Amino acid sequence: MASPPSSVAAGLLISILASLLMVSSAGNFHQDFDIVWGYNKAKFLNYGQVLTLNLDKESGSGFQSKNEYLFGKIDMQIKLVPGNSAGTVTAYYLSSKGANWDEIDFEFLGNVTGEPYILHTNVFCQGKGNREQQFYLCFYVDDIPIREFENMESYGIPFPKHQPMRIYSTLWNADDWATRGGLVKTDWSQAPFTASYTNFNDDNALYLDLWTIFFLRFK
Ligand SMILES: *[C@@H]1O[C@H](CO)[C@@H](O)[C@H](O)[C@H]1NC(C)=O
Repeated sequence: MASPPSSVAAGLLISILASLLMVSSAGNFHQDFDIVWGYNKAKFLNYGQVLTLNLDKESGSGFQSKNEYLFGKIDMQIKLVPGNSAGTVTAYYLSSKGANWDEIDFEFLGNVTGEPYILHTNVFCQGKGNREQQFYLCFYVDDIPIREFENMESYGIPFPKHQPMRIYSTLWNADDWATRGGLVKTDWSQAPFTASYTNFNDDNALYLDLWTIFFLRFK
């Protein structure tokens, strides 16, 4: 990949909105995503404007985007598992493929009713970096930046901007570690647990065409 002209400031913004579902006219989940795990536990509602993932004792479920993204701003509204969500994890992440993959993670660790979720974020980057520096990775929740991952490729630290990634989300049981370090177990009498997704928007995301990025500017 060639270096972009230094005047181009390209930003990498991943944004996530965890809030109540609203009636939506945005992206269609049938069109943009495939169910890849727990097929009978993922459900399309409202003609594909809402997607739900379910978890019961048998298994969780998950989806992945059809498109791959190099960078851009991607929105998703997620309604996390309500009530007693202890032991469950709702993971929302981007990941590329292969042995040296890049990955950008949000993981919402459930809790008993009334106690706070924990949000874990993580970044894996194994894609080899080179000289470009004007890329930024911010994690947003409810429009509030909660984490910035600085590009330090000039110090030899890899940065996840070289490998296109798909969007994934999974809802799964992790009661061996998720809630208070595994002390609180999933209460299966509450199953199925449900997370809902809506208002997906990738209008400002860039796909695979590496050349396009040199002409676009994000702030
Ligand atoms: C759940 O609530 C307890 C008590 O407030 C807290 O210690 C814990 O960090 C919370 N979150 C998780 C995921 O365990």
